[in-house]
Amino acid sequence: MAYFGVQYDGPAMRAPAEAAFDRICTMLGGDHAAGHVDRAGFRDTAGCDTLVAIAYWNDPALFDRWRQRADVVGWWESDARLADGPGYFREVFLPSNDRFETLFSSLDQPEGVAIVMGGLDPEDVQEHSYWGSMRDRIPAAQGDPLAGALTRPAPPAETLGRRVRVEGIHNLAVIRSGQDWGATRDAERAMYLNDIEPVLDAGMRFLTTEGASIGCWSNRYMRHRDQEKSFGLSYWRSLGDMEAWAESHATHIAIFDGFLQMAGKLNFQLDLRLYHEVLVVRSDQQFLEYINCHRKTGLIPE
Ligand code: HEM
Repeated sequence: MAYFGVQYDGPAMRAPAEAAFDRICTMLGGDHAAGHVDRAGFRDTAGCDTLVAIAYWNDPALFDRWRQRADVVGWWESDARLADGPGYFREVFLPSNDRFETLFSSLDQPEGVAIVMGGLDPEDVQEHSYWGSMRDRIPAAQGDPLAGALTRPAPPAETLGRRVRVEGIHNLAVIRSGQDWGATRDAERAMYLNDIEPVLDAGMRFLTTEGASIGCWSNRYMRHRDQEKSFGLSYWRSLGDMEAWAESHATHIAIFDGFLQMAGKLNFQLDLRLYHEVLVVRSDQQFLEYINCHRKTGLIPE
């Protein structure tokens, strides 16, 4: 899975940013095309708007052939990207099958990686509905605590006008946790928008602004373009840090409790759909590049 971002500051830069984003999305088609692409956006802590295309391939070799395509290399490697206005990033993760898991509240409509996996078999996932089940769903975690990196590399001297490649981070833990309220109606819709979403927003703000204190190096709360769907995407020092936040931090507990209350009131008949995908990637399963981005972007070391 690959997150391709375009970062821009202010309305004057919007048109070139949108044009670059269209170009990126078009390049995801063609030979060795991505099997699925989501388009999303968010405003970051520096006040920059960011457009993100999230692309999935079901085979790293296929992705490799795509990334070596002349037009892809030509556009991403060009020095013109350093000076044509917006910032750009590529955050690519190539987890082996033993290093990821995905979980859905309902199996009728897959999202993200499950789309290129060809759907979900309800018999596949037996470990759920208890804290610690995320770890139990990751095969590589069965015999290995998947501890994270103790230190981060030194920050780069300058990031604007530069191409910064960040070395892969030992056992980086990644979560994309999504919400789709498009099919909700009446009481459920009101409860989601009035009671759950503001609490989710507060939790996302905590991770975005204060997450580093508990091992969350980056968090983005993104909204799909033209769809009633959102997701949090966060990068953690370790699976253990992510787990600790979910299981015991007031912000996720508030989200979790609010959801259970809502589900109870609706007799667990929900049209709200939730899913997540979690990866713990080895350093050689990552490619992280920031081109003309400000220094608080993604995994640029601070
Ligand atoms: C409306 C939003 C959300 C709701 C209703 C929600 C609810 C839940 C529920 C019910 C579980 C237990 C799943 C199971 O094992 O059966 C769970 C687990 C978890 N959630 Fe959330 N969540 C939300 C958003 C998020 C976000 C945005 C993140 C992170 C960015 C997150 C991180 C986690 C993690 C890491 C676990 C796994 C804990 C473990 O098994 O150790 N959640 N959440």
